[in-house]
Amino acid sequence: MTTTGPGGDAQVMPCDAEGLRRQLVAALGPVAGEDAPLEARMIVEAATGLDRTALRLHGAVAVQTAQLAAAQTMLARRLAREPLSQILGSRGFWTLDIDVTADVLTPRPDTETLIEAMLDFVDADGRGRGYPWRVLDLGTGSGCLPAALLSELPEARAIAIDRSPAAARVARRNLDRIAPGRALVVVSDWASCLAATGCEAGAFDLILSNPPYIPSGEIRTLDPEVARHEPHLALDGGDDGLVAYRVLAPGIARLLRPDGFASIEIGLGQALDVERLLADQGLTTSVRNDLGHIARCVTARHAVSLAA
Ligand SMILES: C[S@@+](CC[C@H](N)C(=O)[O-])C[C@H]1O[C@@H](n2cnc3c(N)ncnc32)[C@H](O)[C@@H]1O
Repeated sequence: MTTTGPGGDAQVMPCDAEGLRRQLVAALGPVAGEDAPLEARMIVEAATGLDRTALRLHGAVAVQTAQLAAAQTMLARRLAREPLSQILGSRGFWTLDIDVTADVLTPRPDTETLIEAMLDFVDADGRGRGYPWRVLDLGTGSGCLPAALLSELPEARAIAIDRSPAAARVARRNLDRIAPGRALVVVSDWASCLAATGCEAGAFDLILSNPPYIPSGEIRTLDPEVARHEPHLALDGGDDGLVAYRVLAPGIARLLRPDGFASIEIGLGQALDVERLLADQGLTTSVRNDLGHIARCVTARHAVSLAA
């Protein structure tokens, strides 16, 4: 049982590791819902240093005062609706642990759909996973997309672009750890970068992008974890949510090699509009659903490469 402190916040009581986990599940219920058991376990692991297996085997081990204080601090932050990824400083994406701060969007499982689509293309293509693929990621945030792709394509190299210098620092840290020497992170608005030297026509085999796509007016209706704690530059897609796609579509068409492949994330109900924007640039598109059966990714190729 947690008790309530003088400020009305939940206080964890001294106990063993399993007792701490149970207290946290109860306290986190109102903010984390069905994820409360998972979040509680992750906080116990971070506070005690015990991993999942050790927790199962040694759940009766007493929690030290400093460990209890650490768990208490994490609980208070979480009850203030800070995302657990920002509290712990990382989030799993694909097969990787990605560093996360308040300067970047927390990588979402739905975004893995872009990597699945990209790898299906690579595996069906004669060049295979060992080819020196040239990859571009537009709006890289934490760098999770190029990190995941480079972890699967050992000879690939990537350029990752973000307008936020703070996000670019996080991306650099992740990419230096996961794919050392194979990724360049550039701080730039994609509009100017898409036209810059080094970004000549057909420069990239594989183009990824998960741009901001939430209509501006909807941001304040999102969960506080997102609306208050994630960077608005990563969320705000303008009045209709499609502003970024209008800029990106001609840039992607220009930079994609004739036999290349692009994988672009979309928000709910945006598939037709984004496909139309890409088709207007002479690209052939298809749509891929995420695990929740929601259209999540538009893929694009030059029509000419399909005809060849
Ligand atoms: C939805 S987040 C995606 C982050 C990451 N790729 C992911 O999938 O988790 C969009 C990213 O685009 C960046 N961004 C927004 N507008 C931009 C612009 N005009 N030029 C470059 N990057 C931009 C934001 O800073 C943010 O990091």
